[in-house]
Amino acid sequence: MTYVVTDACIRCKYTDCVEVCPVDCFYEGENMLVINPSECIDCGVCEPECPAEAILPDTESGVENWLELNTRYSAEWPNITQRKDAPADADEMKGVEGKLEKYFSPEPGEGD
Ligand code: SF4
Ligand code: F3S
Repeated sequence: MTYVVTDACIRCKYTDCVEVCPVDCFYEGENMLVINPSECIDCGVCEPECPAEAILPDTESGVENWLELNTRYSAEWPNITQRKDAPADADEMKGVEGKLEKYFSPEPGEGD
């Protein structure tokens, strides 16, 4: 079992989650983060930290696609372990529907 980041993170990218992860298993894309499912120890502390409610346990129904996306891009994107400033319009993007189709970027972020 693991936790996964969903498209609610896209263009919000608050990064509060990375500060609390005890095993540093978040990876940074251009406009969202993902979790490496094989590194996540399923502690759950990141879930309530996300202001966008973008983090879910993979025991919830319908998260298979997010698990696939997290697995794929955590292998390609750089590790991120420290909080950084969110995008200027992060609050406006919070709760917007259909962000995967509209805004997902496969490009890597900067990491740290
Ligand atoms: Fe890290 Fe725990 Fe969140 Fe997994 S559940 S990503 S180990 S904080
Ligand atoms: Fe994304 Fe939430 Fe972390 S918006 S960067 S999953 S705090």
